[in-house]
Amino acid sequence: MAEQQKDADTPEMEAESLDPGECRLERVRDPAVIVVFGATGDLTRRKLFPALFSLYENGLLPENVCIVGAARSELSHDEFRESMRSSVDPGPNREPSGWEALSRRIFYHPVAYDDQESFFRLNSFLEELDTTFATRGNRLFYLAVPPTVIPGIARQLDGSGLATEDPQSGNWVRFAVEKPFGHDLESAKELDRALHSSFYEHQIFRMDHYLAKETVQNILMLRFANSIFEPVWDRRYIDSVTITAAEQIGVEHRAKYYDNFGVLRDMFQNHMMQLLALCAMEPPSLFEAERVRDEKTKVYRCLRPFPTQELDKYLVLGQYASGRIDGEQVRGYREEPNVTPDSLTPTFASMKVLIDNWRWQGVPFYLTSGKRMAEKRTEIKVQFKHVPYSMFRGVLGEDISANQLTLGIQPKEEIHLSFQTKVPGPKVCLRTVKMHFDYNQGYPGPVLEAYEKVLLDCLLGDQTLFWRQDGVELCWGFLTPILRECDCPDQAKRLHNYEAGTWGPEAVQNLLPSLPGPHR
Ligand code: BG6
Repeated sequence: MAEQQKDADTPEMEAESLDPGECRLERVRDPAVIVVFGATGDLTRRKLFPALFSLYENGLLPENVCIVGAARSELSHDEFRESMRSSVDPGPNREPSGWEALSRRIFYHPVAYDDQESFFRLNSFLEELDTTFATRGNRLFYLAVPPTVIPGIARQLDGSGLATEDPQSGNWVRFAVEKPFGHDLESAKELDRALHSSFYEHQIFRMDHYLAKETVQNILMLRFANSIFEPVWDRRYIDSVTITAAEQIGVEHRAKYYDNFGVLRDMFQNHMMQLLALCAMEPPSLFEAERVRDEKTKVYRCLRPFPTQELDKYLVLGQYASGRIDGEQVRGYREEPNVTPDSLTPTFASMKVLIDNWRWQGVPFYLTSGKRMAEKRTEIKVQFKHVPYSMFRGVLGEDISANQLTLGIQPKEEIHLSFQTKVPGPKVCLRTVKMHFDYNQGYPGPVLEAYEKVLLDCLLGDQTLFWRQDGVELCWGFLTPILRECDCPDQAKRLHNYEAGTWGPEAVQNLLPSLPGPHR
């Protein structure tokens, strides 16, 4: 019997090289003041300021721009500038003067979130900036604050006249909020009512940083800018789709938040559902915010409700115990600071999702995400069906591997397609080879980090990569039955331990056709 060899050397794909100038974003033209609430917090330091600085250095911020940090602490402009400077890594090839120029446009304004007077003062301060820097009343309010204070800030902005767009002057006002959008369906609706009592939908930017990742944006390009994938992208040719977002990190310093939310609310209600929609949606007629979001919403409407009577066939939950990551001993979830020692919060979930529509009937989507797993790896595997009939079975047997398309989202940004070829030589045998594309191949230009893209789109007023409320609610609605089950008194029975540094609990073997991870 002839053999089939696995995974022969990977032939590379050629990418036409691109002049970076050809595909370059132009500077945002509208002048604006960007107000960051929660300016002394972790998110502002770790993500927002480095992103703003990088945008500035790449000439992408508007010429007339100011950045105002707003938070409860009393700080001078200089103290704030100094603390933000340390958050920005100028990098080896960057002009040291870049920061100095930007810092002249950075200000700080103390704000008591529950005090209307303090928002009136903020309003006057922003008007002064408008006069000095010709920012024309355009405002981006970015909320890097805990979810509990968001409705109050929206109300105060509205009460002090800061939420209003004036049709006569043509200014714009935008309000950007981070997930989580509520804790469940009811609280999500409540949050939305609070936001809508102060802002219109076109002003609200519900952000999900996964959508701004280059490789995530690329899913629609791959599917709808090529004619070879879409004709086979359905139940006739696809056997299953596996979406994995594995992380090596634990809860870090965020246990107070995480212990209340867990992996289903932290990763599934948002990032995982977006990846699912991008893989499953129909082509929109135009790459434009409302049409793209309409198609995603249609996918969410087709999600088959979880059969709560036999949930074990659809869901595995886990919590990490101590173990080793990269050779170092790490503690278990319950030993993390600020986690209650008997916590039943899941840090891992794997679920089988079915989509009830013509295209996907019967094709399982397996979604898995967890913390403290063997490696950081986000990827989508599209498993194609076996050939319907093998003319080679006389010589090769029936076991011919089916094609697989893998979209590496991060940290490896790549696409590979596996297929069968003949092994050169007189013997009749097959080998599985992979065509491999490295996402950055042939592109020497700058790549926007997710937060840079998000901030830029807020300034441009483009909501394509942001959640719309109908999608948020449908996803909460879909997850509600399992959230209820998980919050029920005997949830302990459902929670499987897994050793840190592995690919999750053993129980997942009963659910997934093949486990995530390279070696299993
Ligand atoms: C955040 C979650 O939204 O995404 C975190 O709150 C998670 O818990 C993070 O670690 C993962 O993002 P990334 O970009 O590192 O995959």
